Amino acid sequence: MAIQLGDVAPDFTAPSTDGEIKFHQWLGDDWAVLFSHPKDFTPVCTTELGAVARLKPEFEKRGVKVIGLSVDGVSDHEAWSKDIEETQGAALNFPLVADKDREVANAYGMLHPNADTTATVRSVFVIDDQKKVRLSLTYPASTGRNFDEILRVVDSLKLTSNHAVATPANWQHGDDVIIAASLNDEQAKARFPDGWRAEKPYLRYVPDPSSARDGGARS
Ligand code: BEZ
Repeated sequence: MAIQLGDVAPDFTAPSTDGEIKFHQWLGDDWAVLFSHPKDFTPVCTTELGAVARLKPEFEKRGVKVIGLSVDGVSDHEAWSKDIEETQGAALNFPLVADKDREVANAYGMLHPNADTTATVRSVFVIDDQKKVRLSLTYPASTGRNFDEILRVVDSLKLTSNHAVATPANWQHGDDVIIAASLNDEQAKARFPDGWRAEKPYLRYVPDPSSARDGGARS
């Protein structure tokens, strides 16, 4: 059965460009983004891995580790990493799992045989500090992912885990947020004593509580 939100991310042990990875041990108490790419030495994948390497400081700022995966071997990953550095202006700075026997890809449902019989699709999993899957995305091989969107979702997941709010469409850190529908007005008053802007009784906006409290640090 496909991995669903709230499931514990399957553990695995596999070789990688940083040596053997015991996934749950590697996660420790951190959040992580695990993403698959179809194949080494392919154009879209090259740009994606460069994009993630450039964004690594942004993931780190949020306490999030990143780890990639494909069904190619470590020696291919290592040879390809030179091309990534040369063409993308950023060297690989996170582990790439070599899943030649497809054990991890199968455990995570990254193989979609009706789309591709051998390579993985472009899967993304955001995993929280309890090792629970909080987001899963599947993109086709022909479409490179927008990793700024993954950062945006991490901001939303962390904010909504810590405050009784949800984030509206296209929300960015610092924008107004929505009071959780589970709070009635009386409960909302206790949490948001400065009040809110109601466009409907169920659509109540407040300023981003993380921006207000700490001058913009993400929480
Ligand atoms: C690519 O990364 O460009 C790619 C990989 C596998 C299939 C198609 C495209």
